Amino acid sequence: MTRYFFLCILFALFFSFSASGATRKIIFDTDPGSDDAMALMLALNSPELDVRAITVVPGNVTAKQGLENALRMVSLANRCDIPVAAGAQHPLFQKLITAEFWHGKNGLADVELPPSKCKVDSRYGPDLIIELVHAAPHDITLVPVGPLTNIALALEKDPSIVPLVKEVIIMGGSITGGNVNAAAEANIYNDPEAAQIVFQAGWQVTMVGLDVGDKTLLSKKHLQQLGQTHGPINDFISKVASYLVDLSAKFGSPGTPMYDPLAVGVAIDSTLVTASAMHVDVETKGEFTRGETVANRRGAVERNVLHGDRYVIEGVDKVEPNAKVCVAVDAERFLQLFVSRIGGK
Ligand code: RIB
Ligand code: CA
Repeated sequence: MTRYFFLCILFALFFSFSASGATRKIIFDTDPGSDDAMALMLALNSPELDVRAITVVPGNVTAKQGLENALRMVSLANRCDIPVAAGAQHPLFQKLITAEFWHGKNGLADVELPPSKCKVDSRYGPDLIIELVHAAPHDITLVPVGPLTNIALALEKDPSIVPLVKEVIIMGGSITGGNVNAAAEANIYNDPEAAQIVFQAGWQVTMVGLDVGDKTLLSKKHLQQLGQTHGPINDFISKVASYLVDLSAKFGSPGTPMYDPLAVGVAIDSTLVTASAMHVDVETKGEFTRGETVANRRGAVERNVLHGDRYVIEGVDKVEPNAKVCVAVDAERFLQLFVSRIGGK
């Protein structure tokens, strides 16, 4: 009897481990983009993740250039099995603002990859998101690292996906000032209406914003580590990272912020960051603040009641959080994870 009981325990332990070690299915929505490229290669070289699709959104570059870049990257990684789909061609209500200034003319640090061996998937990005979420209810994590246009379009077309999505890990936003201007972070700034739709949807949002991205700087030290190994992906990322480190140095920074790669890092290992639950709204009107993610740290708002010619505060109402906002990061542990995953690939 004892031997049988022992075997049962062993069997149960094995299954509990394999279940907890299960890979996380993700849909990577991207505006590639040099840091997007580093994020995608991290995702494709991390056993914890199963990239089910790549959807392309305009942002750093046009939709057309982004699609070409995504196809060339999955080809470089020999992953033509992953569907790559075009999505929105412009933000919901404003003109596109492209960032070749930061990402190079082709959006990939002017690194010319070979033409892709892979073919574009004919499905429309938002439709592909809807299809895959319904095919794997409660099992898909959305990892958008560009403007949130595709995510908002998917949600508007089929709101029933909201309770079926496991988590939405967003590279975007900031509660400590912007990178585009005083208030706004680039991904939010490029489609504030889409971002407000996504933040108010009611699903599990994790915001990986500038508050942690700006503390996660890949520096010359990490470039030297990457330079000690070689492989097609390793060498591509070394070139992209080197371009970004040089550009950052021109603006007085000791390293390049790993914005998009850190969002993937959080999908791999959420213990890399500390997050606080807050209610986040996206400003869509402010002359100086359009695109700002406005976080309510106190979780409360005063109730003002009109009495004659003035309002009187008559109470304080609770504001329910709608996002986990990342406020601290174990930056070096992430950077070493990144180098270890890319090195030699
Ligand atoms: O603000 C940083 C974000 O804007 C990153 O996703 C970068 O790729 C750009 O899209
Ligand atoms: Ca991006």
